[in-house]
Amino acid sequence: MPKPADKPQGLIDPFGRHISYVRLSLTDKCNFRCFYCMPKGFRDFEEPENWLTFDEIERVMRAFAGLGVSRIRMTGGEPLVRKNLPELAQRLTALPGVQDLSVSTNAALLENHAQALAEAGVSRINVSLDSLRSERFADITGGGSLQTVINGLLAAKKAGLRPIKINMVALQGINDDEFVDMVNFCLQHEFTLRFIEAMPVGVSGRDASSHYMDLAQVRTELEQHFDLSPGVMPGGGPARYLRVGGSDLNIGFITPISQHFCETCNRVRLSVDGTLYLCLGQENRFELRPLLRQGIRDDELQAVLRKALALKPERHDFNENPERIVRIMSMTGG
Ligand code: GTP
Ligand code: 5AD
Ligand code: SF4
Repeated sequence: MPKPADKPQGLIDPFGRHISYVRLSLTDKCNFRCFYCMPKGFRDFEEPENWLTFDEIERVMRAFAGLGVSRIRMTGGEPLVRKNLPELAQRLTALPGVQDLSVSTNAALLENHAQALAEAGVSRINVSLDSLRSERFADITGGGSLQTVINGLLAAKKAGLRPIKINMVALQGINDDEFVDMVNFCLQHEFTLRFIEAMPVGVSGRDASSHYMDLAQVRTELEQHFDLSPGVMPGGGPARYLRVGGSDLNIGFITPISQHFCETCNRVRLSVDGTLYLCLGQENRFELRPLLRQGIRDDELQAVLRKALALKPERHDFNENPERIVRIMSMTGG
C-alpha cells in the first residue's frame, strides 16, 4: 500500500483546480464557416506533417489518463473531417481511466458516421445549431445545409448516442427570434439545449462580440413561455441547467462573458499540432510535438504535462480586453 504521501497526485493547477477533462482538437479545418468562429477567407491551416498522428495522440491521452483525466472531448474545427475518427475513438475509450468520450460537431457529416462512432465507444455528442431556418442557417454557417444537419441528428439518435446536446450561440439581431422555437424543437426530439454567449475569439468585423447577448435576456424570455426550475445534466462542462416543467428537457446556459466560470475550470486543450493550450481565452501554451518526435519517455511525458499545467492562467479576460484577438476558435475547438 503506498503511504498517502506517495500516492500519485492528479493534475492540480496553480489555482488549486483539478484538471480532469481534455478537449482534443483533431483538425483546425471545418466544412462550415460560422462567421463568429472563423475569419472570412481564412486559409492559414496547419500543415498535415504537423498534425499529431493517432499514435501520438493516444500516447498523450494515455499520459493524461494516468494523471486522472477521465473525460475526453473530440473537437475541431470539425472533428468529423479528420479521417478514420472511429478508429481513434476506439483507441481512446480503451485507455484505462477514460470514462467519458464525447464529440462536439456541426453534424454535417454525422449521418454517415454516427453509427460507427457509437460502436467505437463515443457515448454522447454536442451539436452546433444556431437556427432552424434554412436560409438563415446557410448565412450563419457560410453555406451549410440545415437538412443535412437534421439528418445527422436523427442518425445520432438512431445510433443511440445520448444525450444529444444542441449548442445555440445567442446572437443579437441574427437568431434572437428563435429561442422559443429551438426549445420546442428540442422538446420534440428529446435533445438537450444549451445557449451560449458569443466570445470574442479570433474574429473581427461582423464578429462575435457585435452580436453578443447576455443570456439573462434569453432566460427572461423563456420564463414567459415555460415553467423553469433548477436542472442537472451529465457532462463536465460549464453549462448551468434549468429544467422545463412537465418535460425531461434541460436547458443549459453557458455564460463565459456575463458570469464567467473560470474558478471551476477543469480542462485543458490539445490542438491538432500538439500544442497544449491552458486556457481558451489566453495564449499560455506548451509545445508537445517536438518532445513526442524526439522520443520522450512515458514517465517524462507525465512530468512534462505537470510542468505545463503550471502555466494555466487564472481566467480569461474577454471583458477587460475584448479587442485582443486570441487565436481562432477552430484551433482549440471551443
Ligand atoms: P459537456 O458539458 O461535457 O457536454 O461539454 P461542453 O459544454 O464543455 O462542450 P462544448 O464543446 O459543447 O462547448 C459548449 C460551449 O462552451 C462552446 O462555446 C465552448 O467554447 C464553451 N466552453 C467549453 N469549455 C469552456 C471553457 O473552459 N471556457 C470557456 N470560456 N468556454 C468554454
Ligand atoms: N463564442 C461562443 N461559442 C463559440 N463556438 C464557436 N465559436 C464561438 C464563439 N466565438 C461554439 C460552437 C460550438 C462550440 C464547440 O463552440 O457553436 O457549438
Ligand atoms: Fe478555464 Fe480559461 Fe475557460 Fe476560464 S476561459 S473556464 S480559465 S479555459
